[in-house]
Amino acid sequence: MSNLKINMNNIEEVAESLNSKSLRVCVIGIGRIGLPTALSFAKSGLQTIGVDINENLVKKINSGEFPLKDEPGYDVIFDNVIKNKKFSATTNISDAVSNSNLIVLSLPTTVDENNIPDYSALRNVATRLTELLSTYSLVIVESTVEPGFIEDEMVSIISKSERLEIEKNFFIGVCPENANPGEILHDFTNLPRLVGGINDNITKIITKIYDFVFSVELVEMPNCKTANAVKLTTNVFRDVNIAFVSELSLMFEKLGIDTNKVLEAAKKKYNFQVHYPGPGVGGPCLPINSYQLLNSAKRAGVKLSMIESGRKINEKMPDHVVKLTSDAFKESNKSFQNSDILILGVSYKPNVKDIQLSPAEKIIKKLQNLGINVYVYDPYFTSENVFGIKVEDNLDDILPKMDAVIIVTSHDDFKKIKISSFAKMKTPILIDTRGIIDPSSAKLEKVIFRGLGRGNS
Ligand SMILES: NC(=O)c1ccc[n+]([C@@H]2O[C@H](COP(=O)([O-])OP(=O)(O)OC[C@H]3O[C@@H](n4cnc5c(N)ncnc54)[C@H](O)[C@@H]3O)[C@@H](O)[C@H]2O)c1
Repeated sequence: MSNLKINMNNIEEVAESLNSKSLRVCVIGIGRIGLPTALSFAKSGLQTIGVDINENLVKKINSGEFPLKDEPGYDVIFDNVIKNKKFSATTNISDAVSNSNLIVLSLPTTVDENNIPDYSALRNVATRLTELLSTYSLVIVESTVEPGFIEDEMVSIISKSERLEIEKNFFIGVCPENANPGEILHDFTNLPRLVGGINDNITKIITKIYDFVFSVELVEMPNCKTANAVKLTTNVFRDVNIAFVSELSLMFEKLGIDTNKVLEAAKKKYNFQVHYPGPGVGGPCLPINSYQLLNSAKRAGVKLSMIESGRKINEKMPDHVVKLTSDAFKESNKSFQNSDILILGVSYKPNVKDIQLSPAEKIIKKLQNLGINVYVYDPYFTSENVFGIKVEDNLDDILPKMDAVIIVTSHDDFKKIKISSFAKMKTPILIDTRGIIDPSSAKLEKVIFRGLGRGNS
């Protein structure tokens, strides 16, 4: 397959290649965000190839099995683009890159065990691009990175090849992804997106391409680093605000005030943006994005004390969940040690199958260290092994054998459970870390109830 050369620095050539559907796209990293992204490019009529190091994922995709069961709408798009051969997957980065004009990177950006950002996937792929990138190609980084990472690192790694000179014969920009797992199709077709290029011309070219594929509002930023700064600011805003309400909720518990009631009333004020307390903050974005900004601050020689405190508070919330639980056992006169406790929900957020940095893991480990027998029920992981525990396949069977239940994730399914089911447990202790249980109905059913931030409950 020979690559039709398109000068990705020339807006007329790019426009013509979109209209004639001759632009060839390669998306590297086809996970939660990259796969829907690649499917959207393919749906717009552009020939798209997805590259991933995960052989099983590639096999699954090429055999026609859609791997993201919790992303409504993309299953149909997947079937169509596979059927009309607009999309396929491969582990072979060489052919995929050298036959494409546009390379989109949707690689993971995580943190290591010391919460230091880990950009190794991006660095590894950038090193490969040095040898594989065709001249006049455009690279767009959708992964979340610190401001300056593109200009300082990606460009210098790719430019190591004497063949490639930035702004002369290869081009780079960013379009940071901000979709919500479980709602990606909705978000891709509704949320405005940020665009930042290595120069203004590239910003305009990326805008043209994304307008063709996504038809959403595109916000042009002065450069890559400003676009990445906006992306981090919006997520870190949430991490810090969750820490703020979580810390307040600990005090409200002591003062006999129900945080739910406070927030329901507070949000009536026009300039109050509600955030909810919880057992900790997980997922591939919020905690990592805060650590990314803290890393930027360290490099810039400044201190971001509010983000630092927020992280400490959110990291300590699992301890409070364990404390609430042991407190409830005291009321029951049942020994906490050796008890049987069921964790309801392991996903870091409701209605998705995703356990990345989920607070459930810390809560489970802490309980196990105290000699407690921990069980797990989560409809998204039925019969799978999660955090070393086999997930129960039937809630009704396991509940009566339990001394306590801790609601960690507010999956919609859990909101439908009747309080009377908890009353039938061996010891009826219920800990709600997500504010989904009405304390008075728990009391009516004689369930020993503790709600995170629910004073007087
Ligand atoms: N998931 C989200 O909610 C979300 C939302 C917005 C932005 N983001 C950002 O999008 C980026 C991707 O996140 P994700 O959630 O899709 O991650 P993911 O882990 O679901 O997918 C990443 C994929 O990249 C593959 N991969 C890893 N190293 C590779 C390599 N060297 N070559 C080829 N493939 C490789 C993995 O096998 C995986 O399939 C991250 O920067 C993340 O911060 C994620």
